[in-house]
Amino acid sequence: MDAQLNPTQVDVQRRARQIAREHLAPRAIARDAAGEFPLDDLRRLADAGLMGVNINRELGGLQAGVVAYSLAVQAIAKADPAVAVTMAVNNMVGEVLSYFGTPSQTSTLVPKMTSGEFSSGSFCLSEPGSGSDAAGMLTRATRTTEGWRLSGTKAWITSGAYAGVFLVWAQTSVDGDDQGISLFIVDSRLPGITVGQPEDKMGQHASNTVSLAFDDVLIGPDALLGELGKGFRIAMMALDGGRIGIASQSIGIADGALEWATKAGLDRSARCADALEMMHARVEAARQLTLRAAWLKESASTNFSRQASMAKLMASEVANEVARQCVALVGPEAAAYDHPLAKLLRDARVTRIYEGTSEIQRVVIARDLIRHGVA
Ligand code: CAA
Ligand code: FAD
Repeated sequence: MDAQLNPTQVDVQRRARQIAREHLAPRAIARDAAGEFPLDDLRRLADAGLMGVNINRELGGLQAGVVAYSLAVQAIAKADPAVAVTMAVNNMVGEVLSYFGTPSQTSTLVPKMTSGEFSSGSFCLSEPGSGSDAAGMLTRATRTTEGWRLSGTKAWITSGAYAGVFLVWAQTSVDGDDQGISLFIVDSRLPGITVGQPEDKMGQHASNTVSLAFDDVLIGPDALLGELGKGFRIAMMALDGGRIGIASQSIGIADGALEWATKAGLDRSARCADALEMMHARVEAARQLTLRAAWLKESASTNFSRQASMAKLMASEVANEVARQCVALVGPEAAAYDHPLAKLLRDARVTRIYEGTSEIQRVVIARDLIRHGVA
C-alpha cells in the first residue's frame, strides 16, 4: 500500500474538508436538534462529486477509488456523522447497482444517485425479526405474470423516507426449492409502500431511519438485480464494502472528538496530555487498518472481508472510547446534551450496531481466520 496519497485522493479529501468546514460543521448541532434531513448538503456533496467517489465517471462518479472514498467519509463524519452515514449508504447502493446491474438498470439509476437528483438510495436488508441473522428475512417476492409481487417489512432503513430507490432483499424460494434470497430494485414511489415514523434515535438525528412496509407491491421483471437466488451473496459483498464506510465514519467521529478536546486546552495537564496521546495513537491505528481495507478493495486482488470487518470493529470501538474519554476529560460542560462532544458520544454508539454489530464482525473475522489462517 502506498503511504503517500496520490493527487486525486488529496483533491477528494480537500473537497470533502471544505464542505465539512464551511457548511456541515457550523450547522451540525442545530441540524441534530431539529432532526433535519440534510437535503441541501447532500446536493452540495453531489455537486462536488462526493456522492459517487468510487463510482465510474460515465455514471457521474469521480472514479477516485476506495481510499479516496474513505478519506471523504472521514472528513464529512468529523463535521457531522449523520451526513456521513447518508452519504455512505448512498455509495453502497450505487456500488451494488454499478457492479450487479444490467447496463440499462445501471445507466437509469446510478447517475440520479451521483448527481443528487435522488437525495439517496436505501439498502433494505434488516427486518424486525432478522438483523444479524440477515438470511432469516420473511419478506417475500412471488412471481406474477407481469413480474413480481413484494410483501414484507424492512426495519431501521437509513434514508428510507427520502430515497429515490430502494434495494430490497426478499425470499424467492418456492416449495423449498433452491431459489433462496434475491435482490430487487424498487421505485420508492410505488403504491403499496408505507413509510414508518422516523426512529427517535439517541444520536445522528439528521440521518433518517424508518421502517418500510411493502404490501403487495407490484414490480416488473426487470426489477430483479443480479441472478435469481444469489441476492444474499450480493448483500454480503456489499456489506464488506459498506463496513469500510462505517469504519471511516467512526474515525471521523474520533477525529472530531479529539479536536474538540485539544481545543479545550487540555494539553496543560500532564495527565490529559497522556490520555490524548494514547487516544490519538489508537485512532491512527484504526485509520491505517481502514485505509488498508480500502486499498485491498480498490486493488481488487483479494478478498477483503476480514480486513473490512477488522477495520469496522476497531474503528467503531475506538470512536466510542475516544468520545467517552474526551467528554470525561473536558468535564461537565461537555456532558450537556447539545455540546459537540456529547453529540459525538451519542453519534458514536450506533457505529457498533449498524452494518453488522461488533459481535458479528468478530464472527466474520473468526470464520475467515479459521478458513484461511493468520496471514
Ligand atoms: N462475500 C461473498 N459471499 C459471501 C460473503 C462475502 N463476504 N459472506 C458470506 N458469503 C456467502 C457464503 O459463501 C455463502 O454462500 P453459499 O450459500 O453459496 O455457500 C452465503 O453467503 C451464506 O454465508 P454464511 O453461511 O456465512 O451466512 P450466515 O447466514 O451464517 O450469515 C453473517 C453470516 C456474517 C452473520 C451475516 O448474516 C451478516 O453479515 N449479518 C449482519 C447483517 C448486517 O451487517 N446488516 C447490515 C444491514 S445494512 C445497514 O446496517 C446500513 C446502515 O446501518 C447504515
Ligand atoms: P440482533 O440481531 O437481534 O442482535 C441483538 C444482539 O445479539 C446484538 O448485541 C448482537 O451482536 C447479538 N448477536 C446476534 N447474533 C449473534 C451471533 N450470531 N453471535 C454473537 N452475537 C450475536 N439495516 C438495513 O438493512 N439498512 C439500513 O439502512 C440500516 N440502517 C440502520 C440505521 C440505524 C440507526 C440502526 C440502529 C440500524 C440500521 N440497520 C439497517 C439495522 C442494523 O443493521 C441492525 O440493527 C443490526 O444488523 C443488528 O440487528 P438487530 O438490531 O436485529 O439485532
